[in-house]
Amino acid sequence: MLLQIPDVLTPEQVAGARRRLDAADWVDGRVTAGHQSVQVKHNRQLPENHEVAQGLGDVILDALRRNPLFLAAALPLHVFPPLFNRYERGESFGNHVDNAIRQITGTPHRIRTDLSATLFFTGPDEYDGGELVVEDTYGVHSVKLPAGHMILYPSTSLHHVRPVTRGARVASFFWLQSMVRDDGRRALLFDMDTAIQRIARDVPDHPSAVQLTGVYHNLIRQWGEL
Ligand code: NI
Repeated sequence: MLLQIPDVLTPEQVAGARRRLDAADWVDGRVTAGHQSVQVKHNRQLPENHEVAQGLGDVILDALRRNPLFLAAALPLHVFPPLFNRYERGESFGNHVDNAIRQITGTPHRIRTDLSATLFFTGPDEYDGGELVVEDTYGVHSVKLPAGHMILYPSTSLHHVRPVTRGARVASFFWLQSMVRDDGRRALLFDMDTAIQRIARDVPDHPSAVQLTGVYHNLIRQWGEL
Protein backbone atom coordinates (compact mmCIF):
# COMPACT_ATOMS: atom_id res chain seq x y z
CA MET A 1 0.00 0.00 0.00
CA LEU A 2 1.24 3.45 -0.94
CA LEU A 3 -0.21 6.14 1.29
CA GLN A 4 0.09 9.89 1.22
CA ILE A 5 0.06 11.55 4.63
CA PRO A 6 -0.64 15.25 4.16
CA ASP A 7 0.57 18.05 6.45
CA VAL A 8 2.85 16.02 8.69
CA LEU A 9 4.62 19.34 9.33
CA THR A 10 3.13 22.83 9.32
CA PRO A 11 4.34 25.43 6.77
CA GLU A 12 6.16 27.18 9.67
CA GLN A 13 7.96 23.97 10.64
CA VAL A 14 8.93 23.38 7.00
CA ALA A 15 10.25 26.94 6.62
CA GLY A 16 12.30 26.68 9.83
CA ALA A 17 13.68 23.30 8.75
CA ARG A 18 14.59 24.62 5.32
CA ARG A 19 16.67 27.45 6.81
CA ARG A 20 18.64 24.95 8.88
CA LEU A 21 18.98 22.42 6.05
CA ASP A 22 20.10 25.01 3.50
CA ALA A 23 22.86 26.20 5.86
CA ALA A 24 24.11 22.69 6.75
CA ASP A 25 27.17 20.85 5.40
CA TRP A 26 26.13 17.90 3.25
CA VAL A 27 28.19 14.77 2.50
CA ASP A 28 28.15 12.13 -0.24
CA GLY A 29 24.95 10.08 0.08
CA ARG A 30 26.76 6.79 -0.40
CA VAL A 31 27.62 6.74 3.35
CA THR A 32 24.43 4.81 4.17
CA ALA A 33 24.06 2.87 0.92
CA GLY A 34 24.23 -0.92 0.77
CA HIS A 35 26.35 -3.02 -1.57
CA GLN A 36 24.07 -2.76 -4.62
CA SER A 37 22.62 0.70 -4.08
CA VAL A 38 26.06 2.31 -3.64
CA GLN A 39 26.51 1.94 -7.40
CA VAL A 40 23.34 3.84 -8.32
CA LYS A 41 23.12 6.46 -5.57
CA HIS A 42 24.11 10.00 -6.56
CA ASN A 43 23.01 12.58 -4.03
CA ARG A 44 24.00 14.20 -0.79
CA GLN A 45 23.03 13.52 2.79
CA LEU A 46 23.41 14.99 6.23
CA PRO A 47 25.65 12.81 8.41
CA GLU A 48 23.49 10.74 10.79
CA ASN A 49 25.02 12.40 13.86
CA HIS A 50 24.68 15.95 12.44
CA GLU A 51 22.93 18.16 14.97
CA VAL A 52 20.52 19.50 12.33
CA ALA A 53 19.58 15.92 11.33
CA GLN A 54 19.03 14.95 14.95
CA GLY A 55 17.07 18.10 15.82
CA LEU A 56 14.80 17.96 12.78
CA GLY A 57 14.49 14.19 13.13
CA ASP A 58 13.00 14.72 16.58
CA VAL A 59 10.55 17.28 15.17
CA ILE A 60 9.40 14.72 12.59
CA LEU A 61 9.10 11.86 15.07
CA ASP A 62 7.17 14.08 17.45
CA ALA A 63 4.74 15.08 14.66
CA LEU A 64 4.28 11.44 13.64
CA ARG A 65 3.50 10.35 17.21
CA ARG A 66 0.50 12.68 17.07
CA ASN A 67 -0.62 11.85 13.51
CA PRO A 68 -3.66 9.50 13.60
CA LEU A 69 -3.44 8.61 9.88
CA PHE A 70 0.22 7.61 10.22
CA LEU A 71 -0.41 5.57 13.38
CA ALA A 72 -3.40 3.75 11.86
CA ALA A 73 -1.65 2.95 8.59
CA ALA A 74 1.84 2.09 9.83
CA LEU A 75 1.12 0.52 13.25
CA PRO A 76 4.71 1.50 14.06
CA LEU A 77 6.85 -0.49 16.47
CA HIS A 78 10.29 1.09 15.90
CA VAL A 79 11.03 4.12 13.75
CA PHE A 80 14.55 4.71 12.42
CA PRO A 81 15.89 8.21 13.22
CA PRO A 82 15.07 10.28 10.10
CA LEU A 83 17.85 10.97 7.58
CA PHE A 84 17.98 13.87 5.12
CA ASN A 85 18.96 13.97 1.48
CA ARG A 86 19.44 16.58 -1.19
CA TYR A 87 19.45 16.12 -4.96
CA GLU A 88 20.67 18.91 -7.21
CA ARG A 89 20.74 19.10 -10.98
CA GLY A 90 21.92 15.83 -12.54
CA GLU A 91 21.64 13.84 -9.28
CA SER A 92 19.45 10.75 -8.97
CA PHE A 93 19.12 7.39 -7.23
CA GLY A 94 18.75 4.38 -9.54
CA ASN A 95 16.48 1.38 -8.99
CA HIS A 96 17.06 -0.46 -5.70
CA VAL A 97 15.39 -2.15 -2.75
CA ASP A 98 16.16 -0.79 0.72
CA ASN A 99 18.20 -3.03 3.04
CA ALA A 100 15.95 -5.38 5.04
CA ILE A 101 17.69 -4.84 8.38
CA ARG A 102 19.21 -1.59 9.59
CA GLN A 103 21.28 -0.96 12.65
CA ILE A 104 20.51 2.29 14.45
CA THR A 105 23.95 3.90 14.45
CA GLY A 106 25.64 4.12 17.83
CA THR A 107 23.19 1.66 19.42
CA PRO A 108 22.91 -2.14 19.54
CA HIS A 109 19.37 -1.86 18.10
CA ARG A 110 18.43 -3.22 14.71
CA ILE A 111 15.11 -2.81 12.97
CA ARG A 112 13.46 -4.72 10.15
CA THR A 113 12.42 -2.25 7.47
CA ASP A 114 8.74 -2.93 6.72
CA LEU A 115 7.84 0.57 5.53
CA SER A 116 9.86 3.33 3.89
CA ALA A 117 8.92 6.98 4.21
CA THR A 118 9.85 10.15 2.33
CA LEU A 119 8.87 13.53 3.76
CA PHE A 120 9.29 16.39 1.30
CA PHE A 121 10.90 19.69 2.29
CA THR A 122 10.81 21.31 -1.15
CA GLY A 123 7.61 21.94 -3.11
CA PRO A 124 7.00 20.59 -6.65
CA ASP A 125 7.47 24.10 -8.12
CA GLU A 126 11.02 24.35 -6.75
CA TYR A 127 12.56 21.62 -8.92
CA ASP A 128 11.99 19.58 -12.07
CA GLY A 129 12.41 15.81 -12.12
CA GLY A 130 13.22 14.20 -8.77
CA GLU A 131 10.06 12.07 -8.67
CA LEU A 132 10.13 9.07 -6.35
CA VAL A 133 9.05 6.14 -8.55
CA VAL A 134 7.77 3.08 -6.68
CA GLU A 135 6.93 -0.28 -8.26
CA ASP A 136 4.43 -2.45 -6.45
CA THR A 137 2.05 -5.23 -7.48
CA TYR A 138 -0.42 -2.64 -8.82
CA GLY A 139 2.08 -0.97 -11.15
CA VAL A 140 4.48 1.94 -11.19
CA HIS A 141 3.71 5.06 -9.15
CA SER A 142 5.39 8.42 -9.53
CA VAL A 143 5.34 10.55 -6.39
CA LYS A 144 6.12 14.25 -5.91
CA LEU A 145 4.37 15.89 -2.98
CA PRO A 146 4.02 19.37 -1.49
CA ALA A 147 6.51 20.33 1.22
CA GLY A 148 5.44 18.96 4.60
CA HIS A 149 3.67 15.93 3.07
CA MET A 150 4.92 12.37 3.36
CA ILE A 151 4.62 9.14 1.38
CA LEU A 152 4.66 5.73 3.05
CA TYR A 153 5.42 2.67 0.90
CA PRO A 154 6.36 -0.96 1.49
CA SER A 155 10.11 -1.39 1.85
CA THR A 156 9.79 -4.51 -0.29
CA SER A 157 9.20 -2.31 -3.38
CA LEU A 158 11.77 -1.55 -6.04
CA HIS A 159 12.06 2.23 -6.28
CA HIS A 160 14.21 5.04 -7.64
CA VAL A 161 14.47 8.82 -7.69
CA ARG A 162 14.48 10.35 -11.18
CA PRO A 163 17.24 12.81 -12.05
CA VAL A 164 16.66 16.40 -10.94
CA THR A 165 16.91 18.69 -13.96
CA ARG A 166 16.31 22.06 -12.25
CA GLY A 167 16.59 23.35 -8.70
CA ALA A 168 17.08 21.12 -5.67
CA ARG A 169 14.98 18.43 -4.02
CA VAL A 170 15.35 18.21 -0.25
CA ALA A 171 13.63 15.47 1.73
CA SER A 172 13.80 13.36 4.83
CA PHE A 173 13.74 9.59 4.47
CA PHE A 174 13.57 6.80 7.00
CA TRP A 175 12.24 3.33 7.68
CA LEU A 176 10.11 1.71 10.28
CA GLN A 177 9.33 -1.68 11.67
CA SER A 178 5.61 -2.24 11.98
CA MET A 179 3.83 -4.30 14.62
CA VAL A 180 2.25 -6.06 11.60
CA ARG A 181 4.95 -7.27 9.26
CA ASP A 182 2.78 -8.25 6.29
CA ASP A 183 1.71 -5.40 4.02
CA GLY A 184 -1.59 -7.11 3.04
CA ARG A 185 -2.63 -7.68 6.66
CA ARG A 186 -1.64 -4.14 7.60
CA ALA A 187 -3.75 -2.79 4.71
CA LEU A 188 -6.78 -4.83 5.88
CA LEU A 189 -6.42 -3.49 9.42
CA PHE A 190 -6.17 0.06 8.11
CA ASP A 191 -9.33 -0.40 6.02
CA MET A 192 -11.16 -1.81 9.00
CA ASP A 193 -10.00 0.97 11.30
CA THR A 194 -11.17 3.56 8.78
CA ALA A 195 -14.59 1.88 8.45
CA ILE A 196 -15.03 1.61 12.24
CA GLN A 197 -14.27 5.30 12.69
CA ARG A 198 -16.80 6.18 10.00
CA ILE A 199 -19.53 4.08 11.66
CA ALA A 200 -18.73 5.59 15.06
CA ARG A 201 -19.08 9.06 13.58
CA ASP A 202 -22.16 8.53 11.38
CA VAL A 203 -24.15 6.15 13.61
CA PRO A 204 -23.02 6.88 17.17
CA ASP A 205 -23.80 4.11 19.69
CA HIS A 206 -24.43 1.47 17.05
CA PRO A 207 -23.61 -1.84 18.84
CA SER A 208 -21.73 -3.17 15.80
CA ALA A 209 -19.11 -0.46 16.29
CA VAL A 210 -18.08 -2.07 19.58
CA GLN A 211 -18.15 -5.54 18.06
CA LEU A 212 -16.05 -4.50 15.08
CA THR A 213 -13.59 -2.70 17.36
CA GLY A 214 -13.23 -5.99 19.21
CA VAL A 215 -12.55 -7.82 15.95
CA TYR A 216 -9.92 -5.21 15.03
CA HIS A 217 -8.06 -5.64 18.31
CA ASN A 218 -8.34 -9.41 18.18
CA LEU A 219 -6.77 -9.39 14.71
CA ILE A 220 -3.91 -7.29 16.08
CA ARG A 221 -3.54 -9.94 18.83
CA GLN A 222 -3.26 -12.58 16.10
CA TRP A 223 -0.92 -10.70 13.79
CA GLY A 224 0.91 -8.15 15.95
CA GLU A 225 4.43 -8.64 17.24
CA LEU A 226 6.27 -6.56 19.80
NI1 NI B 1 15.54 3.57 -1.16
